[in-house]
Amino acid sequence: MKIKNVVVIGSGTMGSGIAAHLCNANIPVTLLDLKTEISEKARDRIHKSRPPLLIDKSKINNIKVGNISDNFDVVKDADWIVEAVVERIDVKHQIYEKIFKERKNGAIVSSNTSSIPIKVLSQHLTDVEKKDFCITHFFNPVRYMGLLEIVKNENNDLNKINYLKEFCETELGKGAIICNDTPGFLGNRVGVYAMQVAMMEAFKMKLSVEEADAIFGRPMGIPKTGVFGLYDLIGIDLMLDVLKSFKKELPENDDFHEVSREIPFITEMVNRGFTGRKGKGGFYRLNRKGEGPNVLEAFNYKIINYFPIEKPKIDFERFDLINLINREDKYGEYGWSITSKIIKYASSLVPNVTSNFNDIDEAMRLGFNWAMGPFEMLKEIGVKNFFKREGEVKNNSFLEKLYKSKNENFYGERQLYTNIETLGKIKPTALKLDKNKSANIYRYEDYNIVEFITKANALDYESMDALKNATDKPLIIINESMQFSAGVNLSYTMNFVEKGNFKSVEKFIKYFQETCKHLKYSKYPVISAPSGLTLGGGFEVMVQSNFVASHTNIVVGLVETIVGLIPAGGGCKEMLARWLETDEAKKDPNYAPLKVFDIIGYGKTATSPVEAEPMKYLRPSDKKIMNRNSLLEVSKKILNENKDFTPPEELKFNLPGKSVIGKMDKILEKLYNDKVILDHGVEVAKELAHVLSGGETTVEKTLSEDDLFKLELDAFMKLIETKKTQERIRFTLATGKPLVN
Ligand code: NAI
Repeated sequence: MKIKNVVVIGSGTMGSGIAAHLCNANIPVTLLDLKTEISEKARDRIHKSRPPLLIDKSKINNIKVGNISDNFDVVKDADWIVEAVVERIDVKHQIYEKIFKERKNGAIVSSNTSSIPIKVLSQHLTDVEKKDFCITHFFNPVRYMGLLEIVKNENNDLNKINYLKEFCETELGKGAIICNDTPGFLGNRVGVYAMQVAMMEAFKMKLSVEEADAIFGRPMGIPKTGVFGLYDLIGIDLMLDVLKSFKKELPENDDFHEVSREIPFITEMVNRGFTGRKGKGGFYRLNRKGEGPNVLEAFNYKIINYFPIEKPKIDFERFDLINLINREDKYGEYGWSITSKIIKYASSLVPNVTSNFNDIDEAMRLGFNWAMGPFEMLKEIGVKNFFKREGEVKNNSFLEKLYKSKNENFYGERQLYTNIETLGKIKPTALKLDKNKSANIYRYEDYNIVEFITKANALDYESMDALKNATDKPLIIINESMQFSAGVNLSYTMNFVEKGNFKSVEKFIKYFQETCKHLKYSKYPVISAPSGLTLGGGFEVMVQSNFVASHTNIVVGLVETIVGLIPAGGGCKEMLARWLETDEAKKDPNYAPLKVFDIIGYGKTATSPVEAEPMKYLRPSDKKIMNRNSLLEVSKKILNENKDFTPPEELKFNLPGKSVIGKMDKILEKLYNDKVILDHGVEVAKELAHVLSGGETTVEKTLSEDDLFKLELDAFMKLIETKKTQERIRFTLATGKPLVN
């Protein structure tokens, strides 16, 4: 059997997300709900979703909709039927009865339940039906979350489960982990425990909401929403339901019970509608009252009231577990307490919940975006070190064995759930050629790998150093963290600006340009394998690589104008070159500069390769890949296919100079009069116009890449020296938002 046609029943948050993602994979899908209007509304929601659930919005009508009374026939033709109705066993049982009456022999039926065991879901099924019934637990938002837990029990046809896993891996691009039928499976079992422990210990140690989130966040390699922020995001009411269900399902001696007792003020919050972001607020809220701007407030649970947030002074910009737990203050104590408890809890699940501890780590990476799972944390801390602080741990066979063996090398391979050769898998055995504070350089087989390692992989001098030093072999630029690169590190640049040290800014930009040029023209091929944010300087690195293997979840573009700058690492130059190749540009010398003016001027971004190609951020020849895990294999394949690589010829530019400036000015005048842009917006756009026009040139004159680099650099330096650009950057660094001035 092959999955060629899918029906999803229940078109709420999850059903619509699953249908959209099947559509992303070009699998015909029908979405059913109680009424057709409900599934139609769901389709509208998919179309409008942000971040978009669809890779290609124009395919929205490939998702067929209907209702379970009139359109249930579609189930007859489906190879896989996914149930994603409300979390109520009676409703689910009724639906299964209907499905199994209609489904074709052998079709897979799965539930997206997050808490009901298979044995309960499949209570009324025959043995033959049970063979084909499992749980496929997707995470929200489905397109973006890597984890899919496929839950099986002893009744399943394992061949079918393995086929489903392979399908979800190759077609849907998921990190599919097969789990046993135990409460919360792997991700939620450990993830919810970790949230509870972080919350309870914070209460015990009287840490504020902001303090707890600052620790149970970046320093531990956990998303910065922390614990209270995540509670608000999920919904405090929903979290209480989840806890109830865990408490009901888990055996009495499970440590989960220790961290899940009812907290009266939280119940009270829910009763009064303070359910988090969707309600009146939660542990945080935006106070919109009063005359002035909105104020972000945090809940002070000691006084039971909201106060403007106070960011604790903890200098952790990024993952730094060891320094955290070694701090001799309350933050160090909190960090150690929660880390050690999470490690103890996760290891207590081995072997009864899973025999593969590595699956727990990977579930935490894929499902909760942790930088490392509990067992990797243990490895990072060191086995001896852990036991020195913790002492012997009883009733935990995994830790008892480890206590005896003190084996520091207990970890073994990573990502055992997949056969794909991933970056995560090869890193432990690859030769670490070099490392600086911004990047690692590895040698693997006959090529080099550069992995950026800063916050959001923002680029600085040392990132460029790493790239430059790694071109003595074919080079793959790839990383495991969420973003390829959010662009040049603005704080790094502003540190110079604040000291009036513009020479250093100029030196850095020149080095950036020089490195990108070096990547493009060095003897060996360079491949960028982006996923996530690939913006500004990150895009410039990618666009000046010889090949691109892009994940379909990519946010790509040149966004410099938003902070009052222009792309100066070759972004203007490369975009011009791409648009100059078009037929229109051959007829009209103004065409390419005007197109690029529009794209860069607005700081346009694309949220998928399908959106990126029309803007020429990506080329048709760039590889686009659904499964992020496959980026390395695809990059290697490109290298193998290009053994006789020769560097490209240098670009030449014939640009119209002044004659296009008049047209650009007209556009600006209208935008200014319509108040779309203000004074500084005009100034920035004029600098951009100057670069894209080619400066003091005419179409007969040929400019080199270096000429274009020079134009970019001059414009960049002019702008960064202005007060208003500096104001924009400061504002964006402080708030994450753009300043229009
Ligand atoms: P939801 O409440 O957003 O949507 C449920 C949908 O099911 C509604 O559109 C409702 O009209 C429909 N429905 C109810 N009875 C039906 C019936 N008899 N036939 C057809 N449709 C029916 O729920 P959500 O959040 O999408 O959850 C669905 C399932 O996924 C639940 O089992 C939930 O536990 C699970 N889940 C939810 C996650 C989340 O983040 N929301 C994450 C992972 C799993």
